[in-house]
Amino acid sequence: MCELPPTRYAWDVDDYRDDYRLEPARLADAPRLATMSHEFVEVGLRPAWSASRITWHIRHPESIVLTARAAGVISGFAIMRYADDVAHLNLLAIDTPHRRRGVARRVMTWLEETAFTAGTFIIGLELRATNDAAYAFYSALGYRELGRVPGYYQGIEPAIRMARDVRTARGTTPGMRQPAP
Ligand SMILES: CC(C)(COP(=O)(O)OP(=O)(O)OC[C@H]1O[C@@H](n2cnc3c(N)ncnc32)[C@H](O)[C@@H]1OP(=O)(O)O)[C@@H](O)C(=O)NCCC(=O)NCCS
Repeated sequence: MCELPPTRYAWDVDDYRDDYRLEPARLADAPRLATMSHEFVEVGLRPAWSASRITWHIRHPESIVLTARAAGVISGFAIMRYADDVAHLNLLAIDTPHRRRGVARRVMTWLEETAFTAGTFIIGLELRATNDAAYAFYSALGYRELGRVPGYYQGIEPAIRMARDVRTARGTTPGMRQPAP
């Protein structure tokens, strides 16, 4: 049986404030990432992100499974799938004691810069319509709501669809004139 690393608590993590490392996930991380997905993203839903599905993404050349680690322990992760014109953020979760330390912002910046370098300029995502924290987070990063998708989550909960054009600076709206340099 696979032993999962222990969850860290707020009083353990102050030393890590500036010491998060971003690294591609290893195959051995998949069970922990599936657990984080069930615990933080899929609460109340049938778990859709199994360890084997996450393993598929770790192996797939057009997906990136990126982890943030503090002292070697996973504090957060994201899964992004890249296509020619659009990249899709499948999952993003930060372990509770590591939130509001800029970890998710760093993870998203890494994924967006990778997309930009690859010439994939639009990043799309869906989030649960009740997830106010995630909505505030994505809005702070310049993502804009495109619309709502009824029943997106297993027919029982709507999604909010958001997107950002990584060619625009954060906090600006695509199509708006940018100030002269
Ligand atoms: C949403 C989530 C990924 C944010 O991660 P995080 O590492 O705490 O985010 P950051 O520290 O990088 O936040 C960057 C900015 O986003 C905004 N933000 C983040 N969390 C917020 C919250 N709970 N309420 C309001 N604004 C928030 C703030 O503007 C923040 O900047 P600030 O801390 O300087 O004010 C995290 O709360 C999480 O994992 N939630 C559970 C899983 C989830 O909802 N995933 C996303 C949907 S799939």
